[in-house]
Amino acid sequence: MSNPIAGKHIILGVTGSIAAYKAAILASKLTQAGAKVDCILTESATQFINPLTFQTVTGRKAYLDQDLWAREGHVVHIGLAHEADLVLIAPVSANTLAKLAHGIADNLLSVTALAATCPLVLAPAMDAGMYAHPATQQNVQMLKERGAEFIGPKPGHLASGLVGLGRFAEPETILSRVRFLLGKNGRLAGKRILLTAGPTQEALDPVRYISNRSSGKQGYAIAQALLDEGATVTLVSGPTNLPLPEGAQVIEVTSAAEMKDAVMTHLKDKDAFISVAAVADFTPSSTAGEKIKKTGQDLTLELVPTVDILRTVSEERRRSNPGMLVIGFAAETTQTYQNAIKKLQEKGLDLIIANDVGQPQPVFGADENKVTFISADGQVQEFPWMPKYTVGEKLADFFVQKWGL
Ligand SMILES: Cc1cc2nc3c(=O)[nH]c(=O)nc-3n(C[C@H](O)[C@H](O)[C@H](O)COP(=O)(O)O)c2cc1C
Repeated sequence: MSNPIAGKHIILGVTGSIAAYKAAILASKLTQAGAKVDCILTESATQFINPLTFQTVTGRKAYLDQDLWAREGHVVHIGLAHEADLVLIAPVSANTLAKLAHGIADNLLSVTALAATCPLVLAPAMDAGMYAHPATQQNVQMLKERGAEFIGPKPGHLASGLVGLGRFAEPETILSRVRFLLGKNGRLAGKRILLTAGPTQEALDPVRYISNRSSGKQGYAIAQALLDEGATVTLVSGPTNLPLPEGAQVIEVTSAAEMKDAVMTHLKDKDAFISVAAVADFTPSSTAGEKIKKTGQDLTLELVPTVDILRTVSEERRRSNPGMLVIGFAAETTQTYQNAIKKLQEKGLDLIIANDVGQPQPVFGADENKVTFISADGQVQEFPWMPKYTVGEKLADFFVQKWGL
């Protein structure tokens, strides 16, 4: 399966806010992600942006109030409402929020929202004073209690020139949230998965550290694929430059010791643990309090082994959670399979994902990976080069098979 937006029918409501132009970017992004996007503009929205823009970026008709009264063979709002997987109103004005809260249905957008039974997602944009007003706050509260999902507003610069809470969430943020919401009921819904990603940094002094080439891309891609399948994901991440996967609980750590502590703290009640992080095997025996000075002499570093997180988790599983699946990665430069099988057996894993990082085509920092799944029951699946996200999808398939979902 690809991202959960693909193939979904989304109604994008656009209201009379200065942020309405950003809705065109959102409509475009949703369309590119594979959704069928039907835009409904309020009368006020058309003061800010032309329906032709939405029609062009979505390749579909953009609806206006006049369509409510069009003499077509079907009732437009009922048709739109019943086909939709999601009604997203972005930006939603204070006025439309009030209508939604009180069940007022006096234009195509509000009547469609009232007729729809699918989830309702609202991204407000307004002047900070309008948002803070008790009337708006009560409307927001009422809608939240009825299950509407809010994205933003966020604090920042407003069109009025003031700074305050009322700014429209970024289209990218809305897209990520919509992706998360649409994936929620996937095949792994209800399953709790803990994984690690990225490198660790082992401090030598306040400014220097020992680390490795892991970018975190593989772990983050797996986290995204599992979220897209509805899993509840906890991600313990070493330092990376990657955007955090929307919907995951992310615990950011720096060193191998911190990573181990975070993993053990969050291990309870998990259905699976996946060790993707490139955890340092050695750490300096001591960290200098001050920057180590150049002396012209050689410097010898003493390194001591770190705690083996995967082994510790595997042992803990035996004690407290025998049903949990434990999965490791074996990034090797020589004898990849032999080393991977050894690791699988020694650490008592259910699955090891072997990847040869010594190949001419680089794996670290790349968007693709070449892996082999070796499971405890002896099954071996060798995959061709594929996007790191697809490795996550293969892992989701493994879970589905293992858990009989
Ligand atoms: C220049 C301008 C900017 C506006 N920006 C906003 C806004 O960001 N948020 C909002 O709630 N209302 C805003 N309004 C007021 C709404 O357009 C007005 O309340 C309108 O009735 C909303 O109608 P609708 O909810 O049907 O789109 C703005 C009005 C003008 C003239």
